[in-house]
Amino acid sequence: MTDLRFKNFERIVFFTGAGMSAESGVPTYRGAGGIWREYNYEDYACQRAFEANPEKVWDFHDKRREKVSSCDPNRGHKIVADIQAKIPNTVVVTQNIDGLHQRAGAKDVVELHGSLWRVRCDPHEVNAKRENIVREDFTVPMSPRKCDCGSYWRPDIVWFEDQLDHRVVRRAREAIEECDLLVSIGTSGVVYPAADLPRIAVARGAMTVEINLEDTQVSHMYKHRLRGPASEILALMAG
Ligand code: APR
Repeated sequence: MTDLRFKNFERIVFFTGAGMSAESGVPTYRGAGGIWREYNYEDYACQRAFEANPEKVWDFHDKRREKVSSCDPNRGHKIVADIQAKIPNTVVVTQNIDGLHQRAGAKDVVELHGSLWRVRCDPHEVNAKRENIVREDFTVPMSPRKCDCGSYWRPDIVWFEDQLDHRVVRRAREAIEECDLLVSIGTSGVVYPAADLPRIAVARGAMTVEINLEDTQVSHMYKHRLRGPASEILALMAG
């Protein structure tokens, strides 16, 4: 039996999805009570919807801010941050936009899909360097909704039909290319290109583990599939 405890590895990547935050009370997207079961992303989470009705899109994201700000990191988030502190070459690559890894103490989190707690003003992009117009914002509800230039601030989130930031993807790829253990936690593996990233670890012969309550479309590619709540399985691996 392979000893999958973290202490046996030197370069760990935690690849996380919404199931990582489920035990904190943050709804997932596709499971029971999932966000996309209640809301159609075409009306709330894509650039077209934002251009058509920015107030409606902000109302939706303010509900998400309210929900997430009422939740705390769970034991699983804390174990991940703790392992990162103990095993320095540990990288957290997440699809989550909730910021709970960071609130649990994780550092340099690679946020593939952006963050609920950052906003940007796209119309400036032509004149000014992009980074001048991206800023953190923790107001709930988000206020003011408009930038000084009069345009609406846009959540700095990778919505459907958006491209991922190539610099962020490069960081994720580099970490996964070097890892000796990749642990996928709480993701259904249906959203690309993120769902493709763990394949790099498989191809390089790293140890790969999928933690989920149930089988997913990508379970077959993992060497080990551990079933149960993320925090419980992580506690066993941290033993
Ligand atoms: N422990 C482990 N796994 C869990 C838990 C838990 N406590 N609770 C739920 N899960 C699993 C579910 O079984 C499911 O496979 O987490 C997964 C959540 O899947 P999704 O809701 O599809 O979320 P995710 O895979 O992160 O979505 C990917 O889709 O909507 C877009 O951009 C959004 O980043 C998101 C992306």
